[in-house]
Amino acid sequence: MRHLVTGGAGFIGSNIVDELVQRGHDVAVLDDLSTGKEANLAGVRKKIDLHIGSVTDLAAAQSACRGADYVIHLAARTSVPRSVENPLDTNHVNIDGTLNVLVAARDAKVRRFVYAASSSAYGETPMLPKVETMQPEPISPYGVTKYVGELYAQVFGRVYGLENASLRYFNVFGPRQDPTSQYSGVLSRFMLAVIEGKPPVIFGDGEQSRDFTYVENIVDETLRACEASGASGKVFNGGTGVRITLNEVLKLLEKITGAKISAKYDPPRSGDILHSQADISLARKVLGYEPRVGFEEGLRRTWEWYSAAFGKK
Ligand code: NAD
Ligand code: UD1
Repeated sequence: MRHLVTGGAGFIGSNIVDELVQRGHDVAVLDDLSTGKEANLAGVRKKIDLHIGSVTDLAAAQSACRGADYVIHLAARTSVPRSVENPLDTNHVNIDGTLNVLVAARDAKVRRFVYAASSSAYGETPMLPKVETMQPEPISPYGVTKYVGELYAQVFGRVYGLENASLRYFNVFGPRQDPTSQYSGVLSRFMLAVIEGKPPVIFGDGEQSRDFTYVENIVDETLRACEASGASGKVFNGGTGVRITLNEVLKLLEKITGAKISAKYDPPRSGDILHSQADISLARKVLGYEPRVGFEEGLRRTWEWYSAAFGKK
């Protein structure tokens, strides 16, 4: 089977590509390398077709989709604060880009389109854990764009018969998450700060919580969503069902690294959600998904990877 992974040179995408190659599939990647890196694909580079181009370019999306059986669409601007600063750019990549990939997937008659949606669609609805039947109420431009992608995928199912599944990933972490930008995910930033001996920065009081999900769990869920019968047209949470505060994360990181960590507390970020936790019953039932790697084990593995990649040589 041939899979096109858009955003396949990025953090989650490259982990998905590795697993697809491992399972013996043909893989194409479409990535503009804006946050992704060719180095993330080093281990599989000779076995895949890498298309360097943008999902905002319909011809590039069409060319990459040629011959694909499945499209896994991850290419996106992924940062909440970046979307607050530049909503037009996030809208262009996440909505126009997704529509291009859907059109290309439809025309290439792929078997299924699997979309990397986001828990940010839930916004500040007070109920925890978040269940897929809740009314989405995004509170950032990023959250809006990711929710619109789901709606488009479902409409392409209804109108053109394109099978689709959307996975609302909850904060994913693990090897290859880029820690070097101000927009990077919080755990990667914490890891880099500890390695550099600097205080990690917490926006707010650190009592915000997230359902941090180790990337291997998300790779497994995404590949299940490609093939599971009964999944098409549906939206699934992708998390662990457990949440932890940033202050608790730093305590655990002290235990794992043996370092004494004192955070610097800055004002909260606008567009930030306070608490997030997934109900994964639907993914368990329809996809047979079960998070295999828990938070502490994931944090340990991630620390090992960052120490090797960014620590003193
Ligand atoms: P990432 O930045 O590492 O990956 C995104 C990839 O998309 C990068 O390789 C980047 O170069 C590529 N890209 C960006 N704009 C592009 C364009 N116009 N054309 C082609 N490629 C482009 O981020 P990630 O964390 O791996 O996120 C992957 C997907 O998962 C995104 O859709 C994101 O919204 C979604 N998601 C991530 C998380 C998380 O916690 N990391 C949670 C929920 C959803
Ligand atoms: C993250 C993902 C987003 C995804 C969403 C789904 C990234 C960059 N963002 O958004 O793509 O859709 O999860 O759940 O991968 N924080 C600090 N210090 C820092 C950085 C962040 O305290 O140095 C705080 C933030 O203010 C926030 C929390 O940590 O409260 C998480 O932030 P972040 O990692 O950027 O993720 P989300 O905004 O939750």
